[in-house]
Amino acid sequence: METGTQVWYVFFRVDMRFLSVILLLGVLPAAGQSQLPQGLRDPAQGVAPYVASPPSIVDRMLDMAAVKPGEVVYDLGCGDGRILIAAAQKYRARAVGVELSGRLYQLTLDLVRRLNLSDQITVLHGNLMDVNFSDADVVTLYLETGSNNTLRPKLEKFLRSGARVVSHDFEVRGWKPVQVDKVQAFNRNHLIYLYQIPASLKAQSRPRVDSLR
Ligand SMILES: C[S@@+](CC[C@H](N)C(=O)[O-])C[C@H]1O[C@@H](n2cnc3c(N)ncnc32)[C@H](O)[C@@H]1O
Repeated sequence: METGTQVWYVFFRVDMRFLSVILLLGVLPAAGQSQLPQGLRDPAQGVAPYVASPPSIVDRMLDMAAVKPGEVVYDLGCGDGRILIAAAQKYRARAVGVELSGRLYQLTLDLVRRLNLSDQITVLHGNLMDVNFSDADVVTLYLETGSNNTLRPKLEKFLRSGARVVSHDFEVRGWKPVQVDKVQAFNRNHLIYLYQIPASLKAQSRPRVDSLR
């Protein structure tokens, strides 16, 4: 089910220079995409390239997770912060974003300040693999299947029973989604996987990891 979207993703990564030119020419901004050059990735720690989720996908991800006011939403690899901002503005949630790229971190921080959302949104600059997200009610992901595989043990240990994980385009292998939606945006189908942490997975003991907070 995932093959088509992965081919698209690989294409997107390979053709970053071409896309950057298009972005700079202002073609994609007209369609609502980020104006940042794509492909920002720290080769040492990066687990996914920068590709922004279209606004309609962001909305559907948060709708599927049924985010409630006051809940804590983490976007692991938050890019330009669009999921955090939507969670805070539309759902009155508290949101935490983690971003490895210094440019994207700064961009998100600036946006959050300009929108007066600093009380609701925390942005962390660092590696998502090092973050303690045990206070999350919802975790959003747009990474890669391999990254989700690496992250899965942390999600299982940290997240409480009932917490939701929503992943754009890439499944969390070994988990059974409670819902999978197919949404058309920017001329392709996007898959959104919703998972809920079952009581049987609730961690008996939580591991110590270096927290960025
Ligand atoms: C596909 S983009 C998704 C951006 C945003 N979540 C969205 O849906 O629009 C993946 C993001 O993860 C960031 N990233 C990659 N590896 C990371 C890591 N190890 N720690 C934190 N962020 C990382 C990238 O810089 C990029 O911004």
